[in-house]
Amino acid sequence: MANRAAAAAASLLLTLTLYSIASATVFFEERFDDEDWEKRWVVSDWKKAENASGAWNYTAGKWNGDPDDKGIQTGHDMKFYAISAEFPEFSNKDKTLVFQFSVKHEQKLDCGGGYLKLLSGDIDQKSFGGDTPYSIMFGPDICGHSTKKVHAILNYNGTNYPNKKDVIAATDQLTHVYTFILRPNATYRILIDNEEVQKGSLYKHWDMLPPKKIKDPEAKKPEDWDDEAYIDDPEDKKPEGYDDIPMDIPDTDAEKPNDWDEEENGEWEPPIIANPEYQGPWTPKQIKNPNYKGKWKAPLIDNPEFKDDPNIYVYPNLKYVGIELWQVKSGSLFDNILITDDPEYAKKFADDTWGKHKDAEKAAFEEAEKANKEKKAEEDPADSDVEDETHADKDDSNKSDAKDEPHADEESVVKEQYTNKKDKEEHDEL
Ligand SMILES: *[C@@H]1O[C@H](CO)[C@@H](O)[C@H](O)[C@H]1NC(C)=O
Ligand SMILES: *[C@@H]1O[C@H](CO)[C@@H](O)[C@H](O)[C@H]1NC(C)=O
Ligand SMILES: *[C@@H]1O[C@H](CO)[C@@H](O)[C@H](O)[C@H]1NC(C)=O
Ligand SMILES: *[C@@H]1O[C@H](CO)[C@@H](O)[C@H](O)[C@H]1NC(C)=O
Ligand SMILES: *[C@@H]1O[C@H](CO)[C@@H](O)[C@H](O)[C@H]1NC(C)=O
Repeated sequence: MANRAAAAAASLLLTLTLYSIASATVFFEERFDDEDWEKRWVVSDWKKAENASGAWNYTAGKWNGDPDDKGIQTGHDMKFYAISAEFPEFSNKDKTLVFQFSVKHEQKLDCGGGYLKLLSGDIDQKSFGGDTPYSIMFGPDICGHSTKKVHAILNYNGTNYPNKKDVIAATDQLTHVYTFILRPNATYRILIDNEEVQKGSLYKHWDMLPPKKIKDPEAKKPEDWDDEAYIDDPEDKKPEGYDDIPMDIPDTDAEKPNDWDEEENGEWEPPIIANPEYQGPWTPKQIKNPNYKGKWKAPLIDNPEFKDDPNIYVYPNLKYVGIELWQVKSGSLFDNILITDDPEYAKKFADDTWGKHKDAEKAAFEEAEKANKEKKAEEDPADSDVEDETHADKDDSNKSDAKDEPHADEESVVKEQYTNKKDKEEHDEL
């Protein structure tokens, strides 16, 4: 009897699970688990003429949780990479959009991108490159110590808008899953390894539209607004004789030297020293101002510049997913790319792929590190403690010269930092 109930419950659970999976629409799913992936993906000719395009390696990588679970890895240093795949065109209007993939930077990424792009309309995949317009660019970007961010750049009305809230990318050499969820109510979430790392509103964390509310520029602080937090205590009176205490006094402990010659040196006088009784000019005690009204803030009013666009999140003709990168050191391995309307499906997909192999991959990585260290120690015992020092000190200089997007876009970076700061100030104030 009990068994039957349990079986019924299990079957109900299974039905529910299947139902929720069945309700997901998968627009694109790429596990790279057969050699035919090359038929589904188009390598661009971008930078080929300059001998600056790198080739992709089809591999599970140097350490992995399953040698048969392959992905595509950037294969050559100091090269540009551009590859894309097409899917049946769709619009995310009134739908949740989930964009997810995994990436493992085996090279210990010191300067390079690890992001993907969603593109709209008709693209010539053979010439897809850094200048090809995109709709969404999402994923990690690392360069030196200063850039370790997860981009979520949204194109709106022809302009690319970076996310203003910082999201820190994973910087180790293991596989991580990046998930971007965009909702029809103009909210978003970013997950790393199925854990939420950022969320919020498109209106607040991007500058696509001017702010809904602004401080009333006409408002003025009222004349009688008391914004002194502390005042002099009116009860506190200067003690009698306070000002009679001198700052310096003759040293009463000093004695005239025995051999003082009055004829030669004049009459002896004791040296002048600081008066220990002296307490400086008198100031009254400070007390809390009973009339203090707090810091004055201009009231917020509706921003006349703001015109709502309920379709702020809509990409009406999404059609391609692409990887377009420049890397100083190669070794970024991409896998399990998913575009769906169901965050639950995406979560399960991540658990079934990355989640299943992550512990074995970590163990394999630690094994590889150990072997590497031992090998180094054998080759050069004096150097055995020095761990990748060459990588640690690199800076941004090469990347900004070599790549147009998004680092060379200094202006937008500066703007972004400025808006971040402004955002914070406003937040602190409000
Ligand atoms: C292209 O670049 C590679 C190194 O990135 C070099 O080995 C090769 O000789 C170059 N080929 C030509 C034709 O310049
Ligand atoms: C990619 O494959 C080429 C050719 O086998 C190899 O020389 C290169 O080292 C590989 N790249 C990485 C990052 O393993
Ligand atoms: C969209 O772009 C056009 C032309 O670039 C501009 O006139 C219009 O104001 C923009 N709309 C919004 C909502 O930004
Ligand atoms: C937006 O939609 C999500 C999912 O339905 C919901 O959890 C969230 O509370 C909504 N946020 C707002 C601001 O409406
Ligand atoms: C950066 O560029 C300089 C000179 O252009 C070169 O010597 C150096 O090796 C490069 N560094 C990296 C990390 O590629």
